[in-house]
Formats: sequence, structure tokens, C-alpha cells
Amino acid sequence: MAVNGTTMKLPSMFAAAPYIPADPIFALTAEYLADSFPKKVNLGQGAYRDEKAQPWVLPSVARSRKTIIEQGLQHEYLPIAGLARFRSKVAELALGRDIYNSRSKKIATCQTLSGTGSLHLAGLLIRSCQKPSLPKVYITTPTWANHHHIFSSLGFPCQSFRYYDPDTKTLDLDTYLSTLNSAEPGSIIILHACAHNPTGLDPTPEEWKEIGRIMKERNLFPLFDAAYLGFNSGDFNKDAFAIRYFVNDLDMEVALCLSFAKNMGLYGERVGCLVLATSTEEVARNSQSVLESLQRSEISNPPAFGAKVAATILEDAGLRESWFEDLRTMSGRIQSMRKMLYDGLVANAAPGNWDHLLRQSGMFGFLGLSPKVVIELKEKYHIYMAANSRVSIAGLNKDNVEYVAKSIAEVMKNE
Ligand SMILES: Cc1ncc(COP(=O)(O)O)c(C=O)c1O
Repeated sequence: MAVNGTTMKLPSMFAAAPYIPADPIFALTAEYLADSFPKKVNLGQGAYRDEKAQPWVLPSVARSRKTIIEQGLQHEYLPIAGLARFRSKVAELALGRDIYNSRSKKIATCQTLSGTGSLHLAGLLIRSCQKPSLPKVYITTPTWANHHHIFSSLGFPCQSFRYYDPDTKTLDLDTYLSTLNSAEPGSIIILHACAHNPTGLDPTPEEWKEIGRIMKERNLFPLFDAAYLGFNSGDFNKDAFAIRYFVNDLDMEVALCLSFAKNMGLYGERVGCLVLATSTEEVARNSQSVLESLQRSEISNPPAFGAKVAATILEDAGLRESWFEDLRTMSGRIQSMRKMLYDGLVANAAPGNWDHLLRQSGMFGFLGLSPKVVIELKEKYHIYMAANSRVSIAGLNKDNVEYVAKSIAEVMKNE
């Protein structure tokens, strides 16, 4: 800008932007990729790898893609709420056919940008309904780091509570239940539907029933983060137990934030869905309209390709069976790697007891190593894991599991 013949530099619009360090897990992946050591091992990011440490395109997904392309793929916009056949099939899948059929008019759904987008949209909806006084969001410690990020960025007060007892390496159910017993009515509780990230420890069905009973009695709202359904045990119905119990047996309103990143391996396609099981048809209809209005100002329309892949699988009985088989393949390989890591740690006399590894389930192992050990494993042995010693078990295979177990044992012995 010229004033009196001199050029004045305007201050940057973004001058107040602070420097925020990169998300640690993504930064770790970048470090791993830049490492030229041939035996390097990536146990950081939670993405499934096959026996050759490669990304795996599920056979059911490959067949679905082929079908879609053969049928003639076009690239038109989806409706604002996303692909209708995807949304209804997802709600039916998550709730089970009978529960879905008995409540379909009280259900609102919106296709989202994977699980993250689903949590964010759920937060936006609740915020728009609860303004100006936002309820507290209760989040387990530890948890997936993005929970705090998403809900605090939306202005919700976030309250952490202890979920994991580091001494016994078990779920701290007493603290969990007493937190629920003292939470303000109307608070939101983030529930990991299965495969708690990062601890790999889920409540048993009986414990879920107790959690649900207190939540219903105290009017606490269940917001299920369901990023690992079917991937945890290989059995979709088993992994969806808590969701169905809350909706059907307890007859509670719930928000389900579903991701198909892990269980269909559609990470980069951003396939997700928000499903609301509400108390009345009117609430469902109105909530649906608000979801569409919020979605319009955020992204206008969700991405089409991944949703078509997922819908084609869910609609076709044969493809669906093949997907269930893929879920068993992935969860089975992870379970066998978990056992091999455990055996390797014991065989190499890694100090301490490792039974907790076998108590955990899902994609992650929560090892309980000190930060010093984690750093040394990276610097000396080129083994990369999250700072809290959460390892993505899918990064292990028959060629590297012994190296990892031996390295952990060596570092710990010299600690
Ligand atoms: C607990 C949990 N919730 C949600 C997500 C959502 O992931 P995405 O946005 O890739 O679906 C993840 C992914 O790591 C997760 O671990």
C-alpha cells in the first residue's frame, strides 16, 4: 500500500498465529520414513500392515472397487448428508438389523469425513443444541489425543478421568464408576465402543452393563467413538455389544461416530458416518435437518468414492461375508503377533511381567516402557513407537518380531 509516496507493509493477517508443533504420531512417521536403516520398524501409526509390512487392500474392497468401476463410475456430487444407501446400511450394521428396523424412524444419519469428522460433527450438533452453556465432555486418561483436540476446539470444557492403572496395568473400573457417579447430569461421556486406544483394555459385557446403568440413572450422554468395530475381535456383533446394549436394552439416546478407516482399510478415503439413535421421530427429523445444515457450511458434500466402496460391500451378501473374512484375517494376524511379541519378551528375559500384553486386544499394545527406553529403542535400534510406549501390533511380522522383542529386552536390562 502506498501512503504519501512510501510503501507501507501491512501487518500479516496471521501475525498472531503461534507455532504449534506437528502431531507427535505424524512427526514420528516422518522420522521413520527418513530413516535409512534396513531393519527399521514402525510401530507408531495405527494402520494395518500385512506379513510383508505393506498396506493391505482388503480383497472385499478390491472386489467392490472393481464392481463399481465396471458399473460405470461417475464423479457427481453426493447429497449433503452423503450416500443414502451407505448411511442406512451403516446404521443397520452398527445396530443390528432387528434393532435398526424397530427404530429406523428415530434414527438420524450423516456421512462424515471418517471417524474424526464424525466426532467433530457430533460436537457441532450438540453445541448448536446446548448453547450457551455447553456440557462437560468426560474423556478417559489415556485416550486418543484427538478427543481433547476436537472437543476443546469446539469450546467444550473437557474433563479427564483415570481409566488405566499403570501399577496393575488394568482398567481402573472403580475410578471409572465413581467418575460417572459424580458427573453433572447432562454431561457427555466419550466411550470407546471397543479396542480402547491406546490401552487395548475394554470393559467386559458385565462392566458395560454397570457403566450403562449408572449413565442412564444419572442422565449422562453416551457418545460412542466406534473406530474399530469388527477389527478388534474379528466379530462385528461382539465388538458392537456396548452400542446395542445402550440403544436397545437401556433405550438410551446415543451418538455413534463410525469410521471405516481401519476395519475396511479405507484410511485415506475418509469414510465415516454419524448415527444418532434418538428418543422420538420428531427429534430425529429435526436433528437430521440440523446435521445437513451444519454439513453444508463445513464441507457441502462428503467424498463419494469410499462411501460407494463401503455401501457396495454392505449391500451384497457375498461381499459382506468376504469382508467379515477379511476382518478375521486382520484381527487374527494381530492376535498372533501379540502372542509372538509376548513369547519373545519372555524368552529374552525382558525384565518384568508381560501378561498385560495378552489381556489387551485390538490394534495396539500398551507396553508400559519408560520414556527413556522408548527413546533408546528409536535411536539405537530404529524401532519407532509412540512416546507412551503404545505399539501398533500390526507393524510386527515374522521377520521383525524377534528383533523387536530382543531389542526391548536389551534396552531394559541396561536401563
Ligand atoms: C480411538 C479413535 N477414534 C477415532 C479415530 C478416527 O480415525 P479416522 O478419522 O482416520 O477415521 C481413530 C484413529 O486412529 C482412533 O484411534
